[in-house]
Amino acid sequence: MSSRRGISFGDGYSKKVILVCGDVAKPLLGISSSEYEFLVSRVDVVVNAGAEVNMLKAYSALAAVNVGGTVNALEFAARACAKHVFTSTMLPLPGEEATGYRKSKEVAELLCLRAQTELGVPSAVLQLGDIGISTDEGSFAPDDDYIVIFLRACVSLNLFPHTDWAFSVMSVNDCSIMLTKLSLEGKVESFDGNAREVKGKLIRFDQLYTWISKDIPLHMCSLGGWTNAARSGAADGIDELKRALLLLESMEVELAAEGMRLESGEKSGEINLCVDERWGQSLSNALQLESLLINRDSTTKRSARTVAYAALSQGENLVPINISLQDMTSTSIEIKVTHCGLCGSDDHLISGDYGDYAVWPQVCGHEIVGIVTQVGNAVTHLKPGQRCGVGWQCSSCHDCEWCLRGNEQLCGEVVCTCCEGNRGGFANLVRIKDASFAFNIPKNLDSAEVAPLLCGGQTVWTPLKEQTKPGDRVGILGLGGLGHMAIKFAKAMGCEVTAISSSESKKRKSIEHGARHYVLHTDRDAMARRKGSLDFILVTIATNQRVDFEKFFHLLRPRGTICFVGMCPPITADVFSMGFTMCNITTSNTGGRKDMIEMLDFCSRNGIGASVKKRPLSKINDAIAEMRRGESSIRHVLVNDI
Ligand SMILES: NC(=O)c1ccc[n+]([C@@H]2O[C@H](COP(=O)([O-])OP(=O)(O)OC[C@H]3O[C@@H](n4cnc5c(N)ncnc54)[C@H](OP(=O)(O)O)[C@@H]3O)[C@@H](O)[C@H]2O)c1
Ligand SMILES: [Zn+2]
Ligand SMILES: [Zn+2]
Repeated sequence: MSSRRGISFGDGYSKKVILVCGDVAKPLLGISSSEYEFLVSRVDVVVNAGAEVNMLKAYSALAAVNVGGTVNALEFAARACAKHVFTSTMLPLPGEEATGYRKSKEVAELLCLRAQTELGVPSAVLQLGDIGISTDEGSFAPDDDYIVIFLRACVSLNLFPHTDWAFSVMSVNDCSIMLTKLSLEGKVESFDGNAREVKGKLIRFDQLYTWISKDIPLHMCSLGGWTNAARSGAADGIDELKRALLLLESMEVELAAEGMRLESGEKSGEINLCVDERWGQSLSNALQLESLLINRDSTTKRSARTVAYAALSQGENLVPINISLQDMTSTSIEIKVTHCGLCGSDDHLISGDYGDYAVWPQVCGHEIVGIVTQVGNAVTHLKPGQRCGVGWQCSSCHDCEWCLRGNEQLCGEVVCTCCEGNRGGFANLVRIKDASFAFNIPKNLDSAEVAPLLCGGQTVWTPLKEQTKPGDRVGILGLGGLGHMAIKFAKAMGCEVTAISSSESKKRKSIEHGARHYVLHTDRDAMARRKGSLDFILVTIATNQRVDFEKFFHLLRPRGTICFVGMCPPITADVFSMGFTMCNITTSNTGGRKDMIEMLDFCSRNGIGASVKKRPLSKINDAIAEMRRGESSIRHVLVNDI
């Protein structure tokens, strides 16, 4: 695919040369007459996106660009003996008057009809009347011209961005390929004399997406997500980013005209007018971006980059984007990721449960195993080529009371691997600034099975080591990623383990992992039989629903302890009654470097690894969906296939 001055040659697709244009004659395009002649002899398909989009101007002001532009494009198509596809969005909403803009499109469509019937120019009209950019299933934008606007802006800016960093609407190449594909496949039939009707009817965005994504890797995300990607600098260089902003700006007029409708989300007849509410907000945010960019030093040197799977905004599927890597310092380490576990905390970050700890685009992944590729000159414990692992933390002060005690997780300056803008391990490369948080992995441990130990394993290791002793009767509540590792550890530490779960299906697995007993905690009788049977309960459940923990307190023996590591809403406890048995409620949080090293050593000596389900990193959204269903008592591990 080569691109030059507003013209895209898409010879990759069906060997067709495609011209995408707004107004071919416009000097704005900067096409010289020799280039024009060259084009005439080369082009197979003309995709005519219309030129000016402005809902507020009168027909007279728009006729020159929209009608005139179409005449030019048709004339060009006739000279080139090319197929002409006109993209239009003039369909008025039910009960709505055609505006000047829509009228100009209507006339342009009529011209297409005449060109076909009277001059024999094969001309197809594609009405994009309900192609929305909302990614919600089945959603439509009311009269969206976004793709047309996008094309227009691309043309007028000489920009054909086949960016590999984010997709909101579509790159113009994808768009032109899509349009051509649709018309060549007969999905869009030629204008048939029935003015303003296109056979094949209206096309929904999700349908288009399905058609396109058969041939082209295309990742759908909201405009909000795309904006976040742009804001974060996940674009290739400042100039492209600025241009991208101009694309957004070109939508401003439309937004003003449609503002009311965007907010109302009203329903009218068959057409659902509801546009993703976040859309309007993200767009206005995007429009403020330029001022941020102007202040940025455009001469700053380009930093090293890598590909990472990111949630571009809250709750969205992960898509691959280019990200900048932080600069190497004397204490830094760079790791080529081979494996990365998927922890419940990654899901919390993506889903917005951790609030501002997530920074969009959010790149999660904090159970990282990989091969060292670079180290700073102060790093001595690891060398390029060695295998190592990184968990939830990636830096601390090394100087405070807690660091000196080996409790770096409590340091006031502790830094998390994939929070607050740090990029985690769902990536090809990871850099952390404090290599003392990259750990040697014992040789006998498998990379996929060791990855989940680096956060989940450490998190359950620390309280089990600190708060239990061999012979204790230990309950593990919640049998997901953390819970199943906790069973293995407690068993290997010499405890008698009871697995406590809401899933009956996990009974067999929990026994295989090392539990002696299993209790289904939704079964009142079973819970009553286990009353006062445990010295210690480790709570590893992940939920944002309220949980009644009273019933679990009753499982404790006098002086027993219930320790929370999973994330759940605030709990209530009848501390007066608890006083009679002198039971304790405690918490724990990951662990320090010492805990990590001891835990890895313990696993090496006892042959313990997580039970895992491996998938390529490119299938990470499937892994997240499966983890959310909570059906299996294993850890999902992503294997780098980028
Ligand atoms: N504090 C820390 O240092 C730390 C570190 C890592 C992770 N975490 C947190 O630990 C939690 C568990 O992580 P994970 O990776 O093990 O997640 P996970 O694999 O999704 O497992 C969570 C388990 O919680 C149970 N559960 C889910 N919804 C429940 C509900 N409404 N009521 C009762 N039980 C429910 C399920 O177990 P059953 O089917 O057996 O009931 C599920 O398998 C997450 O919240 C994570 O953020 C904390
Ligand atoms: Zn410290
Ligand atoms: Zn974690």
